[in-house]
Amino acid sequence: MNILILGSGGREHSLAWAVKQNPKCGRLIVAPGNAGIAWIAECADIDIMDGAAVVSFAEANAMDFVIVGPEAPLAAGVADRLREAGILTFGPSEAASLLEASKSFTKEICDAASAPTAGYAHFTDADSAKAHLREVGTPIVIKADGLAAGKGVIIAETQDEALSAIDDMFGGAFGGAGAEVVIEEFMEGEEASLFVLCDGENVLSIGTAQDHKRVGEGDTGPNTGGMGAYSPAPVLSSKIETRAMDEIVRPTMAEMARRGTAFQGVLYAGLMIKDGQPRLVEYNVRFGDPECQVLMMRLGAQALDLMHACAEGRLGEMSVTWAEDHALTVVMAAKGYPGDYEKGSVINGIEDAPEDSFHQIFHAGTARRDGAIIANGGRVLNVTARGASLIEARDRAYGLADAIDWPEGFFRRDIGWRALS
Ligand code: AMP
Ligand code: GLY
Repeated sequence: MNILILGSGGREHSLAWAVKQNPKCGRLIVAPGNAGIAWIAECADIDIMDGAAVVSFAEANAMDFVIVGPEAPLAAGVADRLREAGILTFGPSEAASLLEASKSFTKEICDAASAPTAGYAHFTDADSAKAHLREVGTPIVIKADGLAAGKGVIIAETQDEALSAIDDMFGGAFGGAGAEVVIEEFMEGEEASLFVLCDGENVLSIGTAQDHKRVGEGDTGPNTGGMGAYSPAPVLSSKIETRAMDEIVRPTMAEMARRGTAFQGVLYAGLMIKDGQPRLVEYNVRFGDPECQVLMMRLGAQALDLMHACAEGRLGEMSVTWAEDHALTVVMAAKGYPGDYEKGSVINGIEDAPEDSFHQIFHAGTARRDGAIIANGGRVLNVTARGASLIEARDRAYGLADAIDWPEGFFRRDIGWRALS
């Protein structure tokens, strides 16, 4: 089968790596891809936000199956355009992608599905949002309703912070995403993520993970896209996972189907866990980045069979074959990230690193210049390892990271600390 993967980050590198292990994979193209992906797949420079362009590229290259990596093309209806053209596609429709693209939509679905989540109120103007804030205490969570690349969430400790967050959002700090605002109860607990395939009807859990969103060690400093992750997440015990599936995921999927907008693809449920009770923080309609990298490391070739069965509506026949293993990924980022950083510095030592089913360096933001690998983004490499224990996976990952010669980069030394303490 000829496969096209849309995206260009570490998530898509790990998807390409796993898919390629599977003997059913024929020609593999990643669009637009990056310098690391180019070692294992063809890369094609197409605009993945343009549904018509993606369809004509897939048709011209006889692609049998398309896997959509990021949320933006999903929210723009690219999976709908592919399916309308008769191309088998993994990823939800524009309508079902509202589970990530609109926080107020997700809250409304949770209400209809009686799924446990933070209490909330939804506003379309600053005055009524501020009036509400004066009635509730702090800490309080203020969210831009739309897609804001992970930046539209403010946890306000004081009334003043909350009020100025409202002004910023309605003032356009997050563009159109902030035209509507959700104000949420602050939930305490430990966060973890559950990844579930859904074919519109059947659901299948494909693993748990935890990431580190803050840039600094000890989970301090500004938020990032994620500085590292590991799987499984010990806090998401099988008992809590079962509760999350029964109380949150299944009712949500049933409500989406009832509305005629059944969800097909991977649902990423961000959960807050306290006293054995999971509550929903947010949904994403795609794999997490860098959570995907640790999931793919553990699933390997079967990831293709699972995504293919999901797209064909055959998930009911599938199960996951688990090894008793752990995976951990360390994100190497350009100094300055998540603030301003330089592009173009040279990274040495990647070619000499071991590459096998226990060690992989996935590229998140790299390019090639005069034969050298150069940094081409904020998050640049995802140094990933697998082991029989989390400690073994961690030690292997840091062994790999230490062998990379990149003075302009940095990484956190404490990925996994919560699970290991
Ligand atoms: P989101 O983009 O909705 O995932 O929010 C980003 C991060 O903000 C989450 O990963 C949580 O750490 C935090 N967060 C969001 N909503 C809440 C909430 N209601 N209570 C506590 N923390 C939250
Ligand atoms: N690592 C968080 C995300 O992918 O949204």
